[in-house]
Amino acid sequence: MISLKKVTILVNNKTILKDFNYEFDENKVYALMGPNGSGKSTLAYTIAGHPSYVVKNGEIKFRHRSINNLTADKRAKKGIFLSFQSPLSLNGISVFQLLRLALSGKEEPLAIKRKIDRIAKQLKIKRELLSRPLNEGASGGEKKKLELLQAAVLNPKFLIFDEIDTGVDIDALKTISKFLDRFKNKRTMILITHYNRILKHIKPDKVLVIKNGQLVKEGDFTLPQRIEKNGYEKI
Ligand SMILES: Nc1ncnc2c1ncn2[C@@H]1O[C@H](COP(=O)(O)OP(=O)(O)O)[C@@H](O)[C@H]1O
Ligand SMILES: [Mg+2]
Repeated sequence: MISLKKVTILVNNKTILKDFNYEFDENKVYALMGPNGSGKSTLAYTIAGHPSYVVKNGEIKFRHRSINNLTADKRAKKGIFLSFQSPLSLNGISVFQLLRLALSGKEEPLAIKRKIDRIAKQLKIKRELLSRPLNEGASGGEKKKLELLQAAVLNPKFLIFDEIDTGVDIDALKTISKFLDRFKNKRTMILITHYNRILKHIKPDKVLVIKNGQLVKEGDFTLPQRIEKNGYEKI
């Protein structure tokens, strides 16, 4: 579904990923793990088309077509979604206004509103949070739930969740995991995580480990247990 061929990424003229090769298959769940600073978020931003992440060499394809030259906006329209590790606040724009803008011409505002209400309920997001400017004054867990809400309303085919389980309390983690487990159907997902706890709920088809910008290990759902026990040193 998404393939990276010999992709080298520069950020501020520094090479972060080097000759990265991988093909993410349709309708599979991937866990992406690795030490801090190994390049996980860089890979996520690169696929999403963040302008600061310069593709120096190589090719990124979405459904067999190169997306190297597409802006983040165009990639989003194709069905690529990134849930941010640290979601930013939006000045004066509520989640409804944002989604209405993203779906203009595609879905009626009333239908969007209904969808937001329905999904917010499933995610146990307080109503009051929905009317506030997006993420303003929201806690870590609330922000992550709002990311998931946007994902569910936009309904993309390829999603990257960058540490959706970080800064989230036990109950919120349960809610998020349950929701994601139902949501994964007929979608391709990459879950960037440091912990096995979320992967117990959403059993990944494959687990990838990157270190220093390179893929160093590929395994199954038992790999995170080993990582949790022994760390990354032995990998
Ligand atoms: N905007 C940036 N400017 C300079 N270095 C950056 C920038 N973004 C990321 N890096 C560096 O790239 C490396 C990988 O970062 P990142 O992809 O965020 O790691 P991870 O998500 O695996 O923790 C780190 O060494 C980080 O400091
Ligand atoms: Mg990161």
